[in-house]
Amino acid sequence: MTQHERLLIIDFGSQVTQLIARRLRELNVYCEIHPYQNVTDAFLAEFAPKAVIFSGGPDSVTREGSPRPPKSVYDLGVPILGICYGQQVMTHDLGGRIEAGESHTAEFGRAYVEPTAVKSDFLNGWFTEGREQVWMSHGDHVAEIAPGFEVYGTSPGAPFAITADLSRRFYAVQFHPEVHHTPNGAALYKNFIELAGFTGDWTMGAYREEMIQKIRAQVGDKQVICGLSGGVDSSVTAILLHEAIGEQLTCVFVDHGLLRLNEAEEVVAMFRDNYNIKLIHAAESDLFIGALEGVSDPEVKRKTIGKLFIDVFQKHADTIEGAEFLAQGTLYPDVIESVSFSGGPSVTIKSHHNVGGLPEKMGLKLVEPLRELFKDEVRALGRELGLPASFIGRHPFPGPGLAIRCPGEITREKLEILRKADAVYIDQIRKHGLYDEIWQAFVAILPVRTVGVMGDGRTYDYACALRAVTSVDGMTADYYPFTHEFLGETATRIINEVKGINRCTYDITSKPPGTIEWE
Ligand code: XMP
Repeated sequence: MTQHERLLIIDFGSQVTQLIARRLRELNVYCEIHPYQNVTDAFLAEFAPKAVIFSGGPDSVTREGSPRPPKSVYDLGVPILGICYGQQVMTHDLGGRIEAGESHTAEFGRAYVEPTAVKSDFLNGWFTEGREQVWMSHGDHVAEIAPGFEVYGTSPGAPFAITADLSRRFYAVQFHPEVHHTPNGAALYKNFIELAGFTGDWTMGAYREEMIQKIRAQVGDKQVICGLSGGVDSSVTAILLHEAIGEQLTCVFVDHGLLRLNEAEEVVAMFRDNYNIKLIHAAESDLFIGALEGVSDPEVKRKTIGKLFIDVFQKHADTIEGAEFLAQGTLYPDVIESVSFSGGPSVTIKSHHNVGGLPEKMGLKLVEPLRELFKDEVRALGRELGLPASFIGRHPFPGPGLAIRCPGEITREKLEILRKADAVYIDQIRKHGLYDEIWQAFVAILPVRTVGVMGDGRTYDYACALRAVTSVDGMTADYYPFTHEFLGETATRIINEVKGINRCTYDITSKPPGTIEWE
């Protein structure tokens, strides 16, 4: 348990609960999301929050058996903020009345909230220019406020859009201040945490120090292995561990021969030269590419690579005497036990490749120093640890590497062509200053040859597809709107500079319905 001032978010199943945590972390407040089922009286006593937020959720408080927080939360004496379903729960629990959606007051999407005559510090910075735009997504609404509450804002569909009991420091809103479409929403979180007395003690500098102490306490004098991919998460994990335990750390970098141009050399040099980290460079391209020979099916490719990866990692890890721990760059979004209302497991679109499954197989204990962090916080920690900016800002790269950017059968020749084309494409993007605007950009080499004409001669070479997308988390994505000049110039460069490619296409599929990678 951390020593920071802590805020508890009780999750009632909203799609956007994680965004509440984001807004708070941006304000240097440490918070954790816990599903309502886990929040018992004992949990509350142990967690000792300085404030509590009730998230939104899809249920109706008018339904028997719908989600509730424990009653004792109202007696903690700490401020509470209820959002959407959270407002309705609070109102209902404290003696108000909720009306179900049949009364035609449902509001979805943009709405405008007007102030009332009463004032509160909770609304500092609000209504300075009249009404505020907010994002609503509710069927039910508050029909009667609870004793002690007053109304501070109204909208046509939610006459009680903002309610509060100032003496108990209970605040509630019908809309979602955490989403982008409530442009001034962050001010409400800021006001709330100020009213709760948070000092903003959650900084990456403090986190770094605290984690170093924790890692030392957990590991003692034992050895730790860390799988290094060259991506931001595993790199930050390795460097943090190295600061904490130095020589007790050994990193294993599995080079499966499916990396980008010069990538293996760059990763190895960075860790050996700049950080003096013990590093095993497992150069196993023959093994992987041999096993992939004749394989065209995307799932077979992924499974083959995943299995070999574990075998190779284990082979090298076995040579490290006394290893008892495995370090992994697990992030907070992977950890959050959100409430699932979907009622069933989701469909597997792709078998994602990571080092999961290893700890059980190898009997190792886990060290996961990034478990409490979001991706952008990992980047901030990386900066704090002195990782070069160029490294921190790198686009994500999938575990199976170029294999899934080479639809159809993989050959060494195709991989060579792909590496060169990708390097030219990324060089173009950097030269035009677009790299940081794009979530991910890469080339896929297509399993077709097409006819072309170059210098009066016939060519019969591969076609390739350029991909570039914007995204916040990789879950959804849009293609990047390059100019025609950029696309033309890039196609010309690739065809001129990369032998083996005579045709370039640009992939304009969003996700969904496409995925970011081609396989
Ligand atoms: P898709 O193609 O599913 O990709 O839209 C979403 C994001 O995940 C990355 N990706 C992977 N990352 N192991 C990883 O570590 C994998 O097996 C894997 N497959 C896809 C992809 O590059 C994109 O950022």
